Amino acid sequence: MSVNRVDAIEAIPTGKALGAEVRGLDLGKDAPDAALARLKDIWAQHMVLLLRRQFLEKERLVEIADRLGGRMVAGSHNFYVKDGHKPEASGRISNIEGLTLISNLDKDGNPQKFTEGSGSQELLWHSDNSYMESPPMGSLLNAVKVPVNGGGHTRFCNQYLAYETLPEELKRAIEGKHIRHDRSRNTSGKVRVTFQKATTREEVIGPVHPMVRIHPATRKRALYLGRRYDGPSSHIVELSDAESDALLDKLWAHATQEKFVWEHDDWQVGDLIMWDNQCVMHARTEVDYTQARLLHRVLVKGSPLISAWGAEAAAE
Ligand SMILES: [Fe+2]
Repeated sequence: MSVNRVDAIEAIPTGKALGAEVRGLDLGKDAPDAALARLKDIWAQHMVLLLRRQFLEKERLVEIADRLGGRMVAGSHNFYVKDGHKPEASGRISNIEGLTLISNLDKDGNPQKFTEGSGSQELLWHSDNSYMESPPMGSLLNAVKVPVNGGGHTRFCNQYLAYETLPEELKRAIEGKHIRHDRSRNTSGKVRVTFQKATTREEVIGPVHPMVRIHPATRKRALYLGRRYDGPSSHIVELSDAESDALLDKLWAHATQEKFVWEHDDWQVGDLIMWDNQCVMHARTEVDYTQARLLHRVLVKGSPLISAWGAEAAAE
C-alpha cells in the first residue's frame, strides 16, 4: 500500500479560484511527519483541501490539528461558560478539548431548525474566530452525518484574489486601516446567549485587526474582513459609522464575488475539509432542518497576525 507515502500524495485542483482534492492520504492510519509536511505545503498553495473517506475518531482529528500546528480552543467555548450558563446547553462543545460539534441536532439527537448554536441556519461569510486577538491559522471539518441533497453546502472565497483585484481607489481607501471584529454574535448573526446586543459602536466588543494581512507562509497579502452583521457591529475604527458602512458595502460586494468562490456542494460522510483562515472566508447555505447534520471541527492555532501596515511588511 502506498497510502500516506509522500510520493503518493497528489492534489487535484478544483478548477475554481481556490481548492484542491488531496488523494493518497488516510489520516486514520499512521502518517509520517513528512506526509503531514507535504500536506501543509499543499494547503498553503491551494488554501482549501478536500480529503474523502477520512473516518476519524474525535481524538484523532484533534491529534491531526496538534501535528499541523496545535489545536486552538474556540473563543466561543469560553463565552458559553460565562455567567453560570451551562456550556453543554449549546450542544456545540464536546468533552474533548478543542473539538466543536457543528450540528443541527438537539440533545435527543433530532434535527432542528434552531438550536442554541447555529442549528440549520445559513452561516454568513466569515473567517473563523476573527473576533479573537490571535485568530486560528486554519480549520478542520470532518463529516459524521450529512443530509442527502439537503443543503449545508460550504462555500469558500479567495481573499488573496480579492485584494489583488481591488480597484486602486479602494486599495487607497483601506491603506493603514483596521476593523473591530464583533465578538458578540455567532456566524448566523444571532447575539450569543451570554452577550448583550451593542446599541452603539463603543459597546462593540472584540479585537482590532488590520484590513490587509500578510500570510506567514506565502508572504502574500490577503484582504481580512472577518465578519459583518447589521447594526452597531464590526466597523472600520478610523472612519465614522457612515463612512465605514459605505466602504464595507463596497469591499464585501467585491470580496465575495462568484469568481473567487469554490463551493463544496456534495458533502459525504468521511469528508475532511481543511481551510486556511488567513486567506479564505467561508459561508454555509441553509440546511434542510428535517435531516441530521453533524460535523466535527477543530481549529489550528495561528502565529501572530502580520499586518500589511506594520514594520515587518514594510521591510519586505
Ligand atoms: Fe466558520
